Amino acid sequence: MKVSFISAKPVTNGIAVLPVFDGGKSFGSVEDYIKAGNGQYMAAVKAAKFKGKSSQAFDIYAPSGVKTPRLHIVGAGDKAKFDAEMFAAGVTKSLLFSGETTVTFHLDGIGLTADQAARAAVGARLAAYRFDHYRTKLAKDKKPSLTTVKVAFDSQSMAKKAYDNFHGPICDGVVYARDLVNEPPNALYPKAYANRVKKLADLGLKIEVLGEKRMNTLGMHALLGVGLGSERESQLVVMRWDGGKKGAKPAALIGKGVTFDTGGISLKPGSGMWDMKGDMGGSAAVVGAMIGIAKRKAKANVIGVIGLVENMPDGKAQLPGDIVKSMSGQTIEVQNTDAEGRLVLADALHYTNTKYKPVAMIDLATLTGAIIVALGHEHAGVFSNNDGLADQIASASSASSEKSWRLPLTPAYDKLIDSPNADMKNIGGREAGSITAAQFLQRFVGNTTWAHIDIAGTGMKNKRSDPRETTFGTGFGVRLLNHWIADNYEG
Ligand code: BES
Ligand code: MN
Ligand code: ZN
Repeated sequence: MKVSFISAKPVTNGIAVLPVFDGGKSFGSVEDYIKAGNGQYMAAVKAAKFKGKSSQAFDIYAPSGVKTPRLHIVGAGDKAKFDAEMFAAGVTKSLLFSGETTVTFHLDGIGLTADQAARAAVGARLAAYRFDHYRTKLAKDKKPSLTTVKVAFDSQSMAKKAYDNFHGPICDGVVYARDLVNEPPNALYPKAYANRVKKLADLGLKIEVLGEKRMNTLGMHALLGVGLGSERESQLVVMRWDGGKKGAKPAALIGKGVTFDTGGISLKPGSGMWDMKGDMGGSAAVVGAMIGIAKRKAKANVIGVIGLVENMPDGKAQLPGDIVKSMSGQTIEVQNTDAEGRLVLADALHYTNTKYKPVAMIDLATLTGAIIVALGHEHAGVFSNNDGLADQIASASSASSEKSWRLPLTPAYDKLIDSPNADMKNIGGREAGSITAAQFLQRFVGNTTWAHIDIAGTGMKNKRSDPRETTFGTGFGVRLLNHWIADNYEG
């Protein structure tokens, strides 16, 4: 979608979207169109039995007095509660196959901030996102016709600034993350993934890739153990953005990148297993976040680290009962090879913490099915050893509309992963599965301020109710992380 911001005048092409508020009493710039059309608009409102409720909409084609070919009049409900992003997303979804290429949202004269006007463009872009490039036989009318979104706003330059400097680059990151999650596992295996990330050097990111040899030297046997059954070489990719003060400690983002999770020898059931191509959603969020950070030239130092492995059963695969030594020196009894994400993160977290000494680290992972039992697909689960960081995440979460909810970490839960055979085991049992997974991670972060966000329910979705989420890959986390960096490290 091409995005632009224009001044508020009746447009001469495409569809003009006119929101109507408060039971049809508040019109904003719709009035320009109404005046031009004399009595035609009011007659149409009456004929359409239009009351301005959200979800109500009707069209006037070839209205008199203006050159606009089509007016799309949409109920927008209570003006005080208006969410321009959701409004634009819902309308874009409904017009995506309309045959028109251009949609203009008239958001002038209704008291919106420039930020909200910019977010309307984001809503439209997210709702127009598709992942169609493997579909060679898609009929023309099954392809979206909309290619351009325009937002008409009182101070167009302010809205453009908010979009160009903040929302637009972050949206680019969301789109990139969605693509990664949607890619099939034969296209996106660890090395192919690392090669894609290398290209992001064009944005000014410094990229470093560690292969198995290097990781072996470093002693990352928790991560390497997961990849033993795979023909594909495991990778650890470090992305670095130095936009802040020279020498200032970075904030660190760490992502689980299991490019496919069969469960390994603790094999998952076959039905529905395909969606484990999305088990790299945490890493995709980190890559997308780094794209947003680089493209908006954030004045902060940020490190992104992703652990990329494929979890496969094989003669060489690790076995339930194996004991591996992590880079931290702590030993782990692998009682279930399907609890692999925490093994990957254990070494990625320890490496990040000891090598870069970050001020704070946040990891994202599609870590547990149990978080879906607890929170469904609505909220991500947040775990932290620091109340201040948990509060920062809560506000970044509401600012970005990527919802999250905190769960506890305590010594009593931590005990559940003690093992008689090693320093710990990688599963805690059926109860509190998301919490014991987080307790496991906590054993690898030392005293560093840290949070873990379990996005198993929000990073990939097969059912959709939000018009901004059009495909399996949601890109969840990209926006939250950018708000977190912007609010706490760029001041
Ligand atoms: N990748 C899965 C978690 C997952 C499940 C993500 C469903 C998205 C949807 C993870 O590696 C896993 O298999 N976890 C196990 C842990 C168990 C063996 C302790 C799980 O949740 O069942
Ligand atoms: Mn697993
Ligand atoms: Zn997994």
